[in-house]
Amino acid sequence: MDDPEARRRTATVEAPLPVPDAAMATLLAHLTDLHVLAPGQLAFDRVDTAAHLRAAIDALLALPELPDAVVLTGDLVETGQPAEYEHLARLLAPLPMPVHLLPGNHDDRGALRRVFHSHATLGTEGFVKYSTTVGALRLVALDTTEPGRSAGRLCAQRLQWLDAQLRACRGEPVVIAMHHPPFATGIGEMDRIGLVEGAAAFASVVARHSHVQRIICGHVHRTMYSTVGGTVASIAPSTAHHVALRLGQDAPALWTLEPPAFHLHRLPDQGPLVTHVVPVGDFGGARSFDAPHALEAPAKAAT
Ligand SMILES: [Fe+2]
Repeated sequence: MDDPEARRRTATVEAPLPVPDAAMATLLAHLTDLHVLAPGQLAFDRVDTAAHLRAAIDALLALPELPDAVVLTGDLVETGQPAEYEHLARLLAPLPMPVHLLPGNHDDRGALRRVFHSHATLGTEGFVKYSTTVGALRLVALDTTEPGRSAGRLCAQRLQWLDAQLRACRGEPVVIAMHHPPFATGIGEMDRIGLVEGAAAFASVVARHSHVQRIICGHVHRTMYSTVGGTVASIAPSTAHHVALRLGQDAPALWTLEPPAFHLHRLPDQGPLVTHVVPVGDFGGARSFDAPHALEAPAKAAT
């Protein structure tokens, strides 16, 4: 017969999981598919993507600990016009930490580079590709876009670059950032504009480097997880509109106003990367389980 008290006693003798030292952790915020338009314009005549991004940035700045950096994995703007990138730059200005950029299929590399000319990692020509550090993490950013196409591609040149970068930082915990996810999502219409070339070769490269802790992507406007090359691959939700959950080869890509969110990747001082989902919106604050009517005191402003 089941004895709850015996179960409780058994549970208490097990050693608790170690709580990592918060001060030693690295935090990387991952926002994607912002689809910012020129001021005053709405996506689909309905979605104020700039207001959504402002709300996401407010939520990020209200986190108990500020991330060490932010990475944006493409579709930064809607049509690739300079006015959209200038608007995006103004919207990102409140972020005090480094912001790492990567294009998606809605972006224009030239316009992105001209407006964000102070971002040396964007380079001056060809694919965007860079390797940089975020606290104890190594962030390797890889451009999957092909100008004029919605679908993504990884050519031999990009894969060779990736392999060399991963060899050069052997032993460091790595996050690979890219726009198109390197796995099929099950949403037929999105998969037809997914990473249509180079996904298997990419997985082979990742499989050779066990220090890759995560592959982080955008493009599909839904949270998803899979495994690629022996590691976890995740798609972050959009800060704006989402793609409806319709599954199957014939599934259409439909947009929906599900709650916006972003990912917060946390590398503790010991142990693997952990990914948190941060929904963006007013959910009434945080309350004590012991005194459920008591709201948490607001965080003390940093001095
Ligand atoms: Fe997008």
